[in-house]
Amino acid sequence: MTVAIEPAGAKASAGATIERKDAHLDLCSTASVEPSQNDSLLSCVQLVHCAMPEMALEEVVLSTSFFGKTIRAPLLVCGMTGGSKRAERVNRALAEQAEQHGLAFGVGSQRAMIEDPQCASSYAVRDVAPKTVLIGNVGLATAASIGVDGVRNLMDEIDADAIALHLNAAQELTQPEGDRDFRNGYRIIESLARCLGGRLLVKETGCGIGPRVALRLFDSGVELIDVSGLGGTSWVRVEQFRASGVAADVAEHFASWGIPTAAAVASVRRAVGDRLTIVASGGLRTGLDVAKALAVGADLGGMALPLFRALEAGGPERVDQSIRVIVAQLRQALLLTGSRTPQELRQSPVVITGALSDWLAGLGSASVGDGLGNDCLLPKECRIAQRYRDRPELVRGGPIV
Ligand SMILES: Cc1cc2nc3c(=O)[nH]c(=O)nc-3n(C[C@H](O)[C@H](O)[C@H](O)COP(=O)(O)O)c2cc1C
Repeated sequence: MTVAIEPAGAKASAGATIERKDAHLDLCSTASVEPSQNDSLLSCVQLVHCAMPEMALEEVVLSTSFFGKTIRAPLLVCGMTGGSKRAERVNRALAEQAEQHGLAFGVGSQRAMIEDPQCASSYAVRDVAPKTVLIGNVGLATAASIGVDGVRNLMDEIDADAIALHLNAAQELTQPEGDRDFRNGYRIIESLARCLGGRLLVKETGCGIGPRVALRLFDSGVELIDVSGLGGTSWVRVEQFRASGVAADVAEHFASWGIPTAAAVASVRRAVGDRLTIVASGGLRTGLDVAKALAVGADLGGMALPLFRALEAGGPERVDQSIRVIVAQLRQALLLTGSRTPQELRQSPVVITGALSDWLAGLGSASVGDGLGNDCLLPKECRIAQRYRDRPELVRGGPIV
């Protein structure tokens, strides 16, 4: 089944999209796309050592359920690319590693294959990753233009288990050709959530999802988010390298814009309780970073840049080595905090220091409370939509309104 939405000039724009995605890969492999001021604030999370763990290392259980499948460690190789032959090689190599290590894997934005269906093969990794939790990817504006059926087709075409809907307002504003109109986002997401339910993951792209937005997303029917916070790859910085003149100068002061990953995860978890599955990506570089993210509320950690760079530097063997190290560090962190599982890690004590405490104080102590929106950041809207969401006559499917 083919998704085609832009008959006129579609191939020309596919060419531009593919060129842009390859330029992103070039920049991400070598340029300083993580400005030094960027900070995930995971360094402000201190796990507390347990001198008497009372367990064997092999008793630590990292496996967890994600999109209805079991993954061997709570780690997602975040969506990065697609479109070109180069992107195809990256996707296939990383998906193969995800399969071998039992991790989840996402492809990058599938926009190129919408514009030119011949690009679809660059996202097709099922043959090398038959058991992997595979996640498709589409931007909010593109999703609005292809509708729920188009989004479902994107998933079907690559046999994905789920689709990531990416939010990237800061990046779009830095792209000369980017979107400038971000209206009706929640309405679009509500339609998608109604149709896709638990197969929809809403993600940022390095600027973070805070508690207010998370609550509205939950309210719109979303069950999973990737906060993709500040601290790693900066898309403003990437686009700044491609821009010139005024756009580049404006971008200069926004390369460190966003909610640090640790602040996003901790504040969202506090706001929504256990109602959302939370992936933490954005600046996670070690298994200890993953452990810290889990300790402050994430269900999974996600990484993009370090695994792409490992592939560039040393091929699949280097990626294999990196993943082994990350998983071993994570396992060790669990043991040394006396936690048998990521769930136990979340219950274990953590010390929050410095800027992260400031962020959490600033983001407020809101929570969904009794599930009816009492005490939440957006009490009125939440309560209304919660009831709407619980209405049994609400049928899934239908066009995006
Ligand atoms: C080379 C590259 C390309 C990316 N392309 C996409 C994309 O197409 N869609 C998307 O949702 N996120 C994209 N991302 C963002 C990642 O999915 C993820 O949210 C973020 O980069 C994780 O942070 P990290 O790179 O610091 O590990 C990309 C990241 C990188 C490094």
